[in-house]
Amino acid sequence: MTEFLTSERPSSIVQGAYLVAAVLFIAALAGLSKHETAKRGNAAGMVGMVIALLATLLLVARRAELPDPDGEWRGIGATLGLIGGAVVVGALIGAWRARTVAMTGMPELIALLNAFVGIAAVLVGYNSYFEPGELSSTSEGVHLVEVYLGVFIGAVTFTGSIVAWAKLSERMRSAPLVLPTRHLLNLVVLLVSLGLAVWFVVDGGEIADGVARGVVPLGIMTVLSLFLGFHLVAAIGGGDMPVVVSVVNSYSGWAAAAAGFMLGNDLLIITGALVGASGAILSYIMCKAMGRSFVAVVAGGFGSDGEVSGEARDYGQHQEIQPAQAAEMLAGAKSVVITPGYGMAVAQAQHPVAELTAKLRAKGVDVRFGIHPVAGRLPGHMNVLLAEAKVPYDIVLEMDEINADFPQTDVVLVIGANDTVNPAANDEPGSPIAGMPVLEVWNARDVIVFKRSMATGYAGVQNPLFFRDNARMLFGDAKDRVQEIARSLT
Ligand code: TAP
Repeated sequence: MTEFLTSERPSSIVQGAYLVAAVLFIAALAGLSKHETAKRGNAAGMVGMVIALLATLLLVARRAELPDPDGEWRGIGATLGLIGGAVVVGALIGAWRARTVAMTGMPELIALLNAFVGIAAVLVGYNSYFEPGELSSTSEGVHLVEVYLGVFIGAVTFTGSIVAWAKLSERMRSAPLVLPTRHLLNLVVLLVSLGLAVWFVVDGGEIADGVARGVVPLGIMTVLSLFLGFHLVAAIGGGDMPVVVSVVNSYSGWAAAAAGFMLGNDLLIITGALVGASGAILSYIMCKAMGRSFVAVVAGGFGSDGEVSGEARDYGQHQEIQPAQAAEMLAGAKSVVITPGYGMAVAQAQHPVAELTAKLRAKGVDVRFGIHPVAGRLPGHMNVLLAEAKVPYDIVLEMDEINADFPQTDVVLVIGANDTVNPAANDEPGSPIAGMPVLEVWNARDVIVFKRSMATGYAGVQNPLFFRDNARMLFGDAKDRVQEIARSLT
């Protein structure tokens, strides 16, 4: 066994396994980009991760069998025992959280997990600085740059993700923190960090009185970058929060890639780069979907005074409808579009909605779904719920695919959506959601809005749709109301 592990073979086995895992991760991303292939994509990612973990264990086992620089043997049992123990404890906690988290709590869970990646990169950085070992890059200068960048990105990711978690879970107010000199402050932090980087690279390799001299610049930079992460994300808020989730996800990818460089682990570099790049692309797509500039959102609070609530206007009276009347209206319709939002997730109404859809289709009604890119609280939120309820993929359309069809639609059912169907985004330039493309449901003949009250949505803006002549409010829990309509439709 020892001979096998210390020979050159495990290294090539590990490299080969890493290559297979990397290809599977890319296949996972490709699969996840379409409904039809998402499950396969997920499976590819899981298999890739198992291969990566096993290969890493083999690598660790091999290194444990080699004497350390002092000529002492660390012992394979102790090393694998420690790592195996950590993997089992981590897997148990992860499985428990994944099983218990509500779909609506996913964004904050993801933000918290991203924070772990950030803090891991910081710890790997410090460890790699104090104990460079034989694994790190042979050039000391390059190694110091890797350490510095890894700690910097990791610390920004850590506090940024914690703030995102606090905002998404409403432990912190979602409105942007807009300090008067915010951009200057960020710039100063970046410039000082750059200066400290030079100090660290020049002095970092020296040891004076038994203390590594790079500790001072590294320590100061860590505090500054922790502040920067906090400030960058605290300055984003309100309607721009969806982008924050994917921006911190992207940061976590870059932090993992930086850790990969420090550990000399190719797979971690590839995986980190995949997460970093896909997070950045997703952020860009979401910014476009919300009519925001990517740079403005990431720089935080650009051109915003921090207000999230729109000016209180009197839009007149709203009209109500009861489930039986709604059922009648639907029975007489030829074309129906359902636009779900966060409220459908809260009410867990997706199964009754699927049942209602099936009943209407059986009666010959053309039923389709219109999905806004930021409906709900996480990218793809509505698609996941509808897929879970087995709604056929081919009737689930994106906002751009359905918007032109509303004028020819008889009835639109707005189920727990609010901001994503708000005409103020088009009509009121001063609105906090001005410029965000929305589902133009008001162009349909009739609109039925399912919600519990006249309360505002996530962005805290009143919705003039509710007061339009062709809109009817159907108050109550969306699941109960949809079930009542389905029952009335015999
Ligand atoms: P929202 O604007 O959040 O509105 C949801 C509506 O659902 C609320 O007005 C609420 O009204 C209603 N509701 C809640 N529970 C309900 C229940 N049990 N039954 C019936 N109705 C219920 O929804 P949206 O249109 O999906 O917009 C999403 C918002 O979240 C956007 O502003 C978006 O920017 C933001 N956001 C999105 C993401 C991502 S990535 N998708 C991430 C973070 C933030 P009542 O209280 O009156 O019932």
